[in-house]
Amino acid sequence: MAKTYKIAVMPGDGTGPEVVAEGVKVLDAAAAKFGFNLEYTHFDYGGDRYLRTGEVLPENAAEELSKNDAIFLGAIGHPEVKPGILEKGILLHLRFALDQYINLRPVILYPNVDTPLKDKGPEDIDFVVVRENTEGLYAGAGGVLKKGTPDEVAVQESINTRKGVERCVRFAFEYARKRNKRKKVTLCGKTNVLTFAFDLWERTFYEVAREYPDIETDYAHVDATCMWMVKNPEWFDVIVTDNMFGDIITDLGAMIQGGMGIAAGGNINPEGVSMFEPIGGSAPKYTGKNVINPLAAIGAAQMMLDHLGETEAAAAVEQAIRYVVAEKLESLSAGKMGYGTDEVGDLVAGAV
Ligand code: IPM
Ligand code: MN
Repeated sequence: MAKTYKIAVMPGDGTGPEVVAEGVKVLDAAAAKFGFNLEYTHFDYGGDRYLRTGEVLPENAAEELSKNDAIFLGAIGHPEVKPGILEKGILLHLRFALDQYINLRPVILYPNVDTPLKDKGPEDIDFVVVRENTEGLYAGAGGVLKKGTPDEVAVQESINTRKGVERCVRFAFEYARKRNKRKKVTLCGKTNVLTFAFDLWERTFYEVAREYPDIETDYAHVDATCMWMVKNPEWFDVIVTDNMFGDIITDLGAMIQGGMGIAAGGNINPEGVSMFEPIGGSAPKYTGKNVINPLAAIGAAQMMLDHLGETEAAAAVEQAIRYVVAEKLESLSAGKMGYGTDEVGDLVAGAV
């Protein structure tokens, strides 16, 4: 009997619904072709719902979402909602509540895509960032004293636990083995300044590395990592890092792979329910215009299929994305693709 996967679909805000629709189109094409079923449940969590109800998320949101095999998310962020409310209340809340302790962000330059890096091509830009996703500066530790006075004190602490660091580092080594490319894991840290947190990371990294003699290890400070990502991206295979550094370097990664239009990621709980999303925002200025690039969302759908174990279907979606990028699109930028958002979805679905 054909397998059925339950997918929670959370289109969210701005261009989220437009790109999610194209992702679903491609998922359906892959399901039909490879003989499995997808059962979708829609969730309206996002800015509009918040403005309508005054509630960021219902109490049982994480529980409801976790009844599914995976979550497909569009974008969170609404121009009429103060920055931080939805991001913290929905996106970060779900990452934490569902213990999605890995944020997996591939940085791959597809053939025929423009990169701002001179003389670098697809053979040079092909790595993955494994970002810790539940700790660090994102944990919310700290506080404020005497707010609004000249004596105001603001403290924001980075939380790093042995357990949290170890499971992240281990995931990175496993991933490098599975990826089977350069077979190298680079720890990105700041051991020269953050001598408590990154000492824990460094010790854990080299301890875990002993279990993976087939994988080469490397270390780079985060500032140097930014430099090498621009100058010698071919040095990287898998980069493992903390939440904040991972957030920053993956925006740089998105730019060198052709922009937010193509950058996808997965919030992964290997033992639980994972959530896949395009890493760009809700792009309010492009909303409803059928100009946004859906490939990042389609790439997120591809990662979801891979995660669910539908590896052949995932590979077919990736091939289809590569084909559409190389043979059809004029650009990956919103409004410059030479096609509408829905047509890009049709092209990829057709190629699958
Ligand atoms: C990302 C985003 C989020 C983050 C924001 C929206 C909270 O920038 O997914 O990278 O910082 O993790
Ligand atoms: Mn970010």
